[in-house]
Amino acid sequence: MSQDVVVQLRNVTKRIGSKTIVDKLTFDVPRGEVFGFLGPNGAGKTTTIRMIVGLISMSEGEVLVNGINVSQHFEKAMMHIGAIVENPELYKFLTGYQNLIHFARMIPGIPKERIDEVIKLVKLENRIHDKVKTYSLGMRQRLGVAQAILHRPDVLILDEPTNGLDPEGIRELRDYLRQLAKSEGTAIIVSSHLLSEMELMCDRVAIIQNGKLVNVQHMREMVQQQTDEASLVVFEVDDPQQAIRLLSESVSVTEAAVTPEGVTLYLQRDQVPDAISRLVGGNVRIYSVKPASMTLEDKFLELTRGGQIV
Ligand SMILES: Nc1ncnc2c1ncn2[C@@H]1O[C@H](COP(=O)(O)OP(=O)(O)OP(=O)(O)O)[C@@H](O)[C@H]1O
Ligand SMILES: [Mg+2]
Repeated sequence: MSQDVVVQLRNVTKRIGSKTIVDKLTFDVPRGEVFGFLGPNGAGKTTTIRMIVGLISMSEGEVLVNGINVSQHFEKAMMHIGAIVENPELYKFLTGYQNLIHFARMIPGIPKERIDEVIKLVKLENRIHDKVKTYSLGMRQRLGVAQAILHRPDVLILDEPTNGLDPEGIRELRDYLRQLAKSEGTAIIVSSHLLSEMELMCDRVAIIQNGKLVNVQHMREMVQQQTDEASLVVFEVDDPQQAIRLLSESVSVTEAAVTPEGVTLYLQRDQVPDAISRLVGGNVRIYSVKPASMTLEDKFLELTRGGQIV
């Protein structure tokens, strides 16, 4: 096992009755990585997370955290895991600080400095001495994360952590999760059904549908196109019709379209300089030429073939 791998799933399967809810999931998450678990409602994300943190049993397969088998050595494995599944457990009538003190007492060897450190990390300094009942959802969620990382777990697992957060809250969550991965080397697993969020938050994303792993990819690869394949290029020009006429002299324009962004057509990378020369030669004014970015969402739909909620 590579020293850098923190979490390993091997053929993790959950069957309830005759239904297979999670089907042979296998993947690794290394130190310092923010790993997204992306799938539509009912895909099996929460069920998988519950198995990783040992809240429910597996029908088959195994989960190792720092090489420790979660089913066989539950307590030992939990020392390396911090998690929020559903809502964080907080005492509303205590302050945020009192909540952290309370949890710190349950785990041996947590110094006061560590409490101050986690408060800073989740940026709760200004409100930490207020009662939790006065907190917004986002503040509660931050306190939940602070509590989950008190014991410096090697992996932090959050099920749909952005639920209910406003765009600013989502951005801040993203920032401090990234910070945590970088500064403490924590492996972070976050689930979501929102593609746009995963795109910004994660290094790698696993797409799950109907309990099956459809794909695991680095974010960069997922969003970028293969350069040797023809890709959609947008020409922002003053005269789209003239542009299409000129382009038809050298390339197939049967699928060219005039969109609000400009003339859009499939070109191979090598064909782009020639296309530009022709347009310039034909006195078409070009304002911009850019790849039509295949959004993560398109990619997702392509991979899952427009999968339905199951
Ligand atoms: N205890 C259970 N008994 C029967 N079916 C269950 C049970 N728990 C979950 N399921 C089913 O397993 C599937 C996966 O559920 P899960 O909660 O893991 O999905 P999810 O990906 O977390 O979805 P969401 O995005 O809605 O949170 C669903 O079809 C769900 O109905
Ligand atoms: Mg869920």
